[in-house]
Amino acid sequence: MPGFDLDAVKNQIEQDAATVDSLLKLEELRVKYLGRKGVLAELTAGIGAVPPQERAGFGQKVNVLKNTLNALVAEKQKLFSPRSGQSPASSFDIGMPGINQNLGHLHPITQVVDEICGIFTSMGFVAVSGPEIETEYNNFTGLNIPLEHPSREAFDTFYLKPAGGNQRQRYLLRSHTSPVQVRVMKTAKPPLAVVVPGRVYRPDAVDASHLFMFHQIEGFMVDKGIRFSDLKGVLDVFVKRVFGKDVKTRFRPHFFPFTEPSAEVDVSCIICKGKGCSVCGKKGWLEILGSGMIHPNVFKNVGYEPKKYSGFAFGMGIERIAMLKYGINDIRLFFENDLRFLRQF
Ligand code: DAH
Repeated sequence: MPGFDLDAVKNQIEQDAATVDSLLKLEELRVKYLGRKGVLAELTAGIGAVPPQERAGFGQKVNVLKNTLNALVAEKQKLFSPRSGQSPASSFDIGMPGINQNLGHLHPITQVVDEICGIFTSMGFVAVSGPEIETEYNNFTGLNIPLEHPSREAFDTFYLKPAGGNQRQRYLLRSHTSPVQVRVMKTAKPPLAVVVPGRVYRPDAVDASHLFMFHQIEGFMVDKGIRFSDLKGVLDVFVKRVFGKDVKTRFRPHFFPFTEPSAEVDVSCIICKGKGCSVCGKKGWLEILGSGMIHPNVFKNVGYEPKKYSGFAFGMGIERIAMLKYGINDIRLFFENDLRFLRQF
């Protein structure tokens, strides 16, 4: 058929196919070329009018075009059909609201534990953990806490029922993280610089500043020639990094059975900057931890020679630090799982 330029038709198909970006447009393309009254039907009908010597070649070319077009339509159909697993450009609505992913984050106490451990590990300390079920020996005796000490009374410590048999050890829920001092020193030799974060338990009546479970971080350093000034230096760095450069540290003499001498450490009130307010009880100072030089009896209990080694130790309550840092006035808020509270951190 002289009027038909097959190359022009082929070019037109290619141009049209390039604009197909949806199933709807694909159907339009299919109808235009492959439909009953489409271009190819017209070409096929015209084969008879082609001069006999060109007819076979023409018919073959029309057939090739038809096959190519069929393949193209089938392929595009797969591409746009939602079941193909590919992203269907046609059905993707960029105006549709996204799915709200409720991302969680670390609990504020975990964040503070991580921050504090990070400060000490940056000074060379190693973080270790110990079990929450402890022996009476590690929790008290090994730490030079005498049998008659009030903290050993049943109303100050959760003792566990004996598991039966004649158990030589009584077990309890550790009332502080200090027993990990005994565990570490019994298995390792100085030099040691260790921090121990973890949960502790005490049968306290619950109120705004007491819970039966809370968190502590214990720290200790043992070597030849460790002095009280090392303790002061390390804790001063810690206080400034947690509460700010302008915060002052004060060491106040105190008593702990496992340290001698012992001191409680205060920081200048971070609320009133030391002037005196209701949080610090008008004193200008806030107590944050207990500390001291490890008692020679503790060294003897773990098999260290007290004449050869010296060391310091300290222990602090994490919730108290977190409450001061964030201005929280009720410890119970940390463990009520109220998202209105938790989302603020
Ligand atoms: N274990 C003490 C407590 O729970 C805190 C403490 C005080 C730890 C003095 C120490 C320390 O290592 O030297 O109250």
